[in-house]
Amino acid sequence: MIPTWYRLLARLSHDESVGGQRLAEELGLSRAAVWKQVEKLRKTGLAIEADRGRGYRLARPVSLLDQEALGGEAAAHGLELEIHPELDSTNRFLSDLLADRRHARVVIAEYQTGGRGRRGRQWWSPPAAGLCFSLGWRFECGMMRLGALSLVVGLAAASALRDACGLDISLKWPNDLIHGGRKLGGCLVEIGGHADGPCDAVIGIGINAHLPETFDPGQPWTDLWRATGDGRRDRLAMALFSALPPMLRQLEAHGFEGISPEWAKRDALAGQSLRVTMPDGSTRAGVAVGVSPRGGLYLEAGGVTEELVMGEVSIRGA
Ligand code: BTN
Repeated sequence: MIPTWYRLLARLSHDESVGGQRLAEELGLSRAAVWKQVEKLRKTGLAIEADRGRGYRLARPVSLLDQEALGGEAAAHGLELEIHPELDSTNRFLSDLLADRRHARVVIAEYQTGGRGRRGRQWWSPPAAGLCFSLGWRFECGMMRLGALSLVVGLAAASALRDACGLDISLKWPNDLIHGGRKLGGCLVEIGGHADGPCDAVIGIGINAHLPETFDPGQPWTDLWRATGDGRRDRLAMALFSALPPMLRQLEAHGFEGISPEWAKRDALAGQSLRVTMPDGSTRAGVAVGVSPRGGLYLEAGGVTEELVMGEVSIRGA
């Protein structure tokens, strides 16, 4: 069922401003119900202005994603696409499907009520203000060969952002998408299966498209609107359809070695003095000197190089 807030947002996205009475008639709602839905959208963080004479208008332009147009593009790349107005999390939605129904399936949500970020964090964006994208992928090569998967996903997202938006993206290990020193998006890869046999990955990518000024994730951030003057997401989704499958196939067939020079070109941490917080809360300090064949971060301190496979990076002194 299509949620009422989605129908309201779709209507508002077409016109400069629309009166409350007109919205009520077109959506088959009472004026009070229109007001309630406006409030609901506002609570998600979407700014809607109200003018006594002219009615309601979106403070930032919104362009909803079109299942028909994008579904055709996805199919051209062997992918099956479904766009949902609202899900708790696109990663969770795909994970809940039977493994054999996930492969090559892309799920996009206009709004996630429980978007998941790395390390148990929340991933937040108001309706249509970000691209919330997940792809299910089956690998036959076993998990042992997929240590660098989330780095490869970051590289595919960076190349899609270049092709669709002309952006020069660097990557902060393991897979933050950085533009102009600010976080534009991130990836969350969840994988299950056999060390040497088939395994299934859910590859989640979140990219900020046009967020409110008030957004405060505790680190410098940017979005497509600020970086390019255009917050549309459709071309970016299409570019992801074309960038991801070949990179995933290349990783499975040939490993990370052939891809790692690409990482080196985009490595935002290379040569930086870092402090890395390990999952157990302990910290390591050193200078980042690249990534390993299995996607770990090489950290050098006192002439010794250590490979870290998990952890949270902050720039030392920052
Ligand atoms: C990060 O913490 O940087 C990773 C964020 C990943 C967010 C995306 S949005 C689509 C997919 N569904 C989720 O619940 N999370 C990922």
